[in-house]
Amino acid sequence: MPRIYITRKIPGAGVRMLQEKGYEVDVSPKNGALTREEFLGVLRGKEYDAVLCTLLDRIDGEALDAAPTVKIFANYAVGFDNIDLAAVKERSVIVSNTPGVLTNTVAEHTFALMLAIAHRIVEADGFTREGKYKEWAPELLLGNDLFGKTLGIVGAGRIGARVAYHGARGFDMKIIYTDVKPNADIEKEAGAEYREKLEDLLAEADFVSIHVPLLPSTRHLINTERFSQMKSTAYLVNTSRGPVVDEVALVEALRNKTIRGAALDVFENEPALAPGLAGLANVIITPHIASGTEETRAAMAELAAKNIIAVLEGGEAPTAIKG
Ligand code: GLV
Ligand code: GLV
Repeated sequence: MPRIYITRKIPGAGVRMLQEKGYEVDVSPKNGALTREEFLGVLRGKEYDAVLCTLLDRIDGEALDAAPTVKIFANYAVGFDNIDLAAVKERSVIVSNTPGVLTNTVAEHTFALMLAIAHRIVEADGFTREGKYKEWAPELLLGNDLFGKTLGIVGAGRIGARVAYHGARGFDMKIIYTDVKPNADIEKEAGAEYREKLEDLLAEADFVSIHVPLLPSTRHLINTERFSQMKSTAYLVNTSRGPVVDEVALVEALRNKTIRGAALDVFENEPALAPGLAGLANVIITPHIASGTEETRAAMAELAAKNIIAVLEGGEAPTAIKG
C-alpha cells in the first residue's frame, strides 16, 4: 500500500480521503513545522510514495534526493517559492499547489486589510477599548474612503483579478493594473486599465495591492525608489509574499510619511518583523492568514489530497506545477 507523509497536521477531510484509499498515512506528530534536519530525517527514514508539505518545507535537490521513491510533493499553498523547480525538472517527480480554492478568501482578506487601514479600524478599536472615547467629535480618527478611488493591482492573476472585481463592483473604484502582459478578463470583469510601467501605476493609485508570485524578478519589486513614485496619500497592501517588498524601506516610507499607510499579511523574514514596523500606527499586520478560513484551509487539504491520489493512481495531478 502506498505510504504518505504529511509534514504538519492540516484541517478538513484531506487526510481522511487518503486513509479511505487504504494508504498508510503518517502525519507529523509535532505541533510546529519540522526543522530541516527533522524533515530530511523523515524522508530518509521510510520509503514514502507521496508527501504533503507546507510552504515552510523547502523542496530542493537535497530533499528530493532524500526521497527517491516519492512520486509527488503536494504543496499545501498556492505559492511555491519554497520549491526549487529546476531541481524538480531534473528528476521525475511531480509537484502540485492549491490554486483556485483560496482565491476568494485571499481577496476577501485583502479587502479586509484595505478597509481596516483606510478606516483605521485597529487603531480605533484600541482607542475605544482603552477608554479614550469620551465624546463624539467631528475630526475623531478620520480615515479615507475606498469609494471612487483608484486601486492599482500589481499582478493580475486569479487573486489580483478577484480583488479588482471587488474594488470595481463593490466600491466603485477605478482599477488599473500591471502584469507582464495585459489580461482581457480583468479588463472585462473590472473595467481595469493596463499600465505597462509600474511607475505609472504607482503614480496614479490611491491603493496599491500586490499579487505577484515571489520570483527573482519580483524580489524587492517595491523598494525605496518605488515608494517615492507613490502618492503621499497612498496605502500599500501585501498579501502575496513578504520579500516582494523591501520591508526596511517600507518602515522608512511609513515613518517619513512618503506613503500614508500599509497593511501586510506577509513579511520579508517571517515570522520576524523589520525593526520599527510593529511600533507604527499607520500599519496593520496579520500573521500570514489571508487564506485562513475554516472553509478554505479544508478545501486546500482536499485539493492536495486529490493531487496525491491522482498521481498514485497513475493519472495526472489536477493542479500540477508546470516548471
Ligand atoms: C499561502 O501563502 C499560499 O501561498 O497559499
Ligand atoms: C494565485 O492563485 C493567483 O494566480 O493570483
